[in-house]
Amino acid sequence: MNDANDLLSLCKRRGFIWPSFEMYGGVAGMFDYGPLGCVLKNNIVEVWRAIYKGREGFVEIDSETVNPREVFKASGHVDGFADLMTYCRACGSPFRADHLVKDHYENPDVLTPAELDESFARFGVTCPECGGQLGPVEEFNLMFKTNIGPGSDRVGYLRPETAQGIFVNFPNLYRYNREKMPLGVIQTGRGYRNEIAPRQGMIRMREFNMMEVELFVDPDDKDWPGFPGIEGEELVLVPNTGEETLTMTVGRAVEEGIIANRVLAYFIHTTKQLLVRLGVDPARLRFRQHLPDEMAHYAADCWDAEVLLSYGWTEITGIADRGCWDLSRHAQFSGTDLTHFRRFDEPREVETERVRARHKALGPAFKGRAKAVAAALEAVSPSEVRDGRLTVIADGEETVLTDEYFEVVKVTEKAAGERVVPHVIEPSHGLDRIFYSVLEHAYAHDAEKDYTVLRLRPEVAPVKLGVFPLMERDGLDDLARRIYGEVHDHRVEAYYDGSGTIGRRYARMDEIGTPWCVTVDYASVEDGPDRGTVTIRDRDTTEQRRIRIEDVRPVVEGLLEGRLDFASL
Ligand code: ATP
Ligand code: GLY
Repeated sequence: MNDANDLLSLCKRRGFIWPSFEMYGGVAGMFDYGPLGCVLKNNIVEVWRAIYKGREGFVEIDSETVNPREVFKASGHVDGFADLMTYCRACGSPFRADHLVKDHYENPDVLTPAELDESFARFGVTCPECGGQLGPVEEFNLMFKTNIGPGSDRVGYLRPETAQGIFVNFPNLYRYNREKMPLGVIQTGRGYRNEIAPRQGMIRMREFNMMEVELFVDPDDKDWPGFPGIEGEELVLVPNTGEETLTMTVGRAVEEGIIANRVLAYFIHTTKQLLVRLGVDPARLRFRQHLPDEMAHYAADCWDAEVLLSYGWTEITGIADRGCWDLSRHAQFSGTDLTHFRRFDEPREVETERVRARHKALGPAFKGRAKAVAAALEAVSPSEVRDGRLTVIADGEETVLTDEYFEVVKVTEKAAGERVVPHVIEPSHGLDRIFYSVLEHAYAHDAEKDYTVLRLRPEVAPVKLGVFPLMERDGLDDLARRIYGEVHDHRVEAYYDGSGTIGRRYARMDEIGTPWCVTVDYASVEDGPDRGTVTIRDRDTTEQRRIRIEDVRPVVEGLLEGRLDFASL
């Protein structure tokens, strides 16, 4: 039995996900969410949103998916966001070069093109499709390129991550947060990567959904107020130092320097809480640290939340300390100040560097403009000196000055604070991979009985309650519809089903993960609306109880919120 294929076929049959554009032959790596999938996906987003937005200082934004080239030039994606690929010389099939040597290296994605070419020759790697010879390994940028407006002057890219939309809004967000740190910003939306070889169903898509969190912190304060509350909690860690998998507390992982700092550790733990709450099996969840040469161009430390799927251990979330990379780069490329003003408790004497004009040299050279040039010089920062020269604008005229006309001096001043570039801690969740993991970990198939149950956590299950009349007549159907109408709203999605045997109807609900079903029978109508009862059945134990009709809604809400326990009904 192949779990992934069985599950994907269930997903297709029952309307969780459908391969996109099927009537035109489909496009690899593209999927549409059907009615049940759409609700499950939204429920996952709601849990993530509740976890983050429930915290002080976290806000949500929604930024553009098409960005001008400048954004990704600054972020490093134009130059660095590439995979290495090769084409078969015989049949022309494209391949990710590192995937072809994965049996020979523990971490093939750090190999250079030359090393990959050489390893094809050494290990006799040929085209997996036709056995033909492979061509030279080359870089392929994963971003989809487009033009903004007519003509080709304004190049744009579809964003490969939502994160940049947050970084380029930093000045707005910082102002919104009344110039305080830490500042947490969340965003969910589409990301696009022109993956060379989409495979493994929803794991590698070309258009996918992300839930990203960018937490801006003071670079010298990587503590987190909630840390003492979770430092005793356990994590399963695979550090990059070559040790075996370790199970240790969050506190010890930081003390021993395995996780770089408290705030990163805190959000690794938050990621575990989120994933487990969504239904990922904690026994099939671990956090793997990137090897130093595997880290993304921006990362100072990075851990992947990996889950064990039928495809093997798979990254579903990346949690990185991106340091000051993003804000420094956008400041440099856009000329915008992206610093935080860190106030001292008391004003302090600080030593700083200033540009000072050499008046004796300026006077004879600039005559009437000398005063204005001197003032312009003393207003610029020493960091703007390039090759011993400064460019200033004085009286509307641009002037380049050599250090004959200025000097950089150290001065001591009283300061209320100082400017620092915030660091960024980022839990970046792949929503589709989480969605698929939640389904695979919920999937239970009894081969003997050929019976499938999706043991989805009630909080994320797309349908919370199945409502069945025993027969679709004698008023049973009217009563069932009334109960359905009372219960069904956006938080409690109910499903009315009047056809087939009750066993068949339970099976249909079990297969899509509906946690409870109620059945209206003759006793329900005979006892009248005030005293009548219905049967409620629990998916996981298949136990049944009788409850009063008027209690259906409060009972289901109580079960959903965890206030009630089915066994004690
Ligand atoms: P991989 O190594 O698997 O390509 P990545 O390290 O490039 O992934 P990140 O750049 O860290 O991934 O992206 C953050 C998250 O986005 C990942 O943890 C993953 O869940 C999700 N993600 C990335 N690429 C894809 C994709 N092609 N399809 C679906 N989800 C993706
Ligand atoms: N924002 C993390 C990533 O997409 O790489």
